[in-house]
Amino acid sequence: MSTPSPDLRRRADAMALRRALQARIPEGRRGLGDPRVMLRGAPLAPPGVPLAPTPPETVPLLGHLRSLQGRDGEDRMRELLRFREEHGDVVRFRFAGLTAHLFANPEHVKLALHERNRIYGKGTRGMHKLRLVLGLGLLTNEGDSWLSQRRIAQPAFHRKRIAAFAEDFADASEAMVASWEDGQTLDAHYEMMKVTLRIVGQTLLGTDVTGESDAVGSAVSRIVEDVNERVNALVDLPPPFPSRRNRLFRQSMEVLDRIVLEMIEARRSAGVSGDDLLGMLMDARDADTGAAMSDAQLRDEVMTIFLAGHETTANALTWTLYLLSKYPGVARRVRAEVDAVLGGGRARAEHARDLVYTKQVLEEAMRLYPPAWMIARSPEEDDVVGGYHIPRHSLVFLCPWVTHRHPDHWEDPEGFDPDRFSPERSADRHRFAYFPFGGGPRLCIGNNFALMEAQLILATLMRDWRLDLVSGQRVAMEPLVTLRPKHGLRMTAHRRRSA
Ligand code: HEM
Repeated sequence: MSTPSPDLRRRADAMALRRALQARIPEGRRGLGDPRVMLRGAPLAPPGVPLAPTPPETVPLLGHLRSLQGRDGEDRMRELLRFREEHGDVVRFRFAGLTAHLFANPEHVKLALHERNRIYGKGTRGMHKLRLVLGLGLLTNEGDSWLSQRRIAQPAFHRKRIAAFAEDFADASEAMVASWEDGQTLDAHYEMMKVTLRIVGQTLLGTDVTGESDAVGSAVSRIVEDVNERVNALVDLPPPFPSRRNRLFRQSMEVLDRIVLEMIEARRSAGVSGDDLLGMLMDARDADTGAAMSDAQLRDEVMTIFLAGHETTANALTWTLYLLSKYPGVARRVRAEVDAVLGGGRARAEHARDLVYTKQVLEEAMRLYPPAWMIARSPEEDDVVGGYHIPRHSLVFLCPWVTHRHPDHWEDPEGFDPDRFSPERSADRHRFAYFPFGGGPRLCIGNNFALMEAQLILATLMRDWRLDLVSGQRVAMEPLVTLRPKHGLRMTAHRRRSA
């Protein structure tokens, strides 16, 4: 890689400074907790508006922190389900003086994400930490500047554009299935992370970033791990603090900043932006103002798409493979559909429309294991939801993992039944009973990308291989920023036909 020019260095330094400043944007009370709540034990509601029911606290002052933070990830999630069962659709928690509510009812999810989305902002601790990495990209920004960014980026995710990426989806899938050997034991989670990273690198920057020595690939992987740890850590030393972890984090960020800026600069000086996502974002203009994205904005969007766009899809696929190994009848139906649609050949964009059951299987897997298992918001104003007081600047948790199991909306909630997503059975479902991609104006911009990508990867895999779960392993959920299997997923690959 070439030595960066002094100008590039200056710009990369300016970006690092900007990010550090953004990360210091005050969170108000949200980060620290309200001392009055800590002492009184509950927020103050206006006369006549009751507080939502709350489970008994295990540790005085710390509130529900221990039941929700200090336990095994899987137990924590089951605890949320139990809270809903015992206390109803709006449950109140307290963490060291901070008030939080879980909204489990689809109607209340709709309020927060859609109808009153202007009140329910993203000023949460988790978002604050994500801003360290993503700056003010689409996922982390808010207000008018978010809207302008979304308008600029939206055309790059148009269905027709995504169909043009199908070649990249298929190339990466073919390379993956060709690298396995009959009888080999592999970590399906690692394989899915690798294939989706390869795809995001190819579609975003037009390069393969998965080589052993590839600086982008390893920096992205390190940052994904770091973000997961930071968002979940109770005590987190901010990046300027001199620790080993922070040094590695800063190094990875510098590598990515420099490479992305070099790419932008090279494309600008060659006068071609390219037909990958970065090129589309460089060419895009705001319909109202005609403005293009600045380099700093482009950098933040590239980082956002890198991070938001590969671990989520990888987890959706990993849990799908897990479920298929548990339900051989469903796996047989997927194989039969894949054989009929692909005819033993390469997966293409037009196959996605006919891989109907394969898509239902992915949808049902994301119901039981939603990769974005928790979406957090913080209301800017006091609100009343389900008849209960929701104080401004508190936290609101919308948890697809819980709502996707709501017994009023799902029959046999724990059962794996992809036919639930047939058009007939989906027709009467509440729009927000199922929200793996969020909803309202902040709906995942990559949802169609992710679905087609996952369909083509799964179809290519099922065409050639049967993956069996290695017996004796404990498959546990790890709820970090995304929901992943805690110890990976060991599977044995059996070849179906000669490739
Ligand atoms: C199965 C895969 C995926 C899942 C489950 C998923 C889930 C989500 C969810 C729940 C949100 C909303 C977060 C919120 O409201 O706070 C979101 C936003 C976002 N996702 Fe995805 N995502 C997936 C794949 C992708 C892909 C492939 C890309 C890009 C190529 C992507 C890019 C984004 C971006 C940029 C946002 C922010 C959109 C905005 O606020 O304007 N996602 N995603």
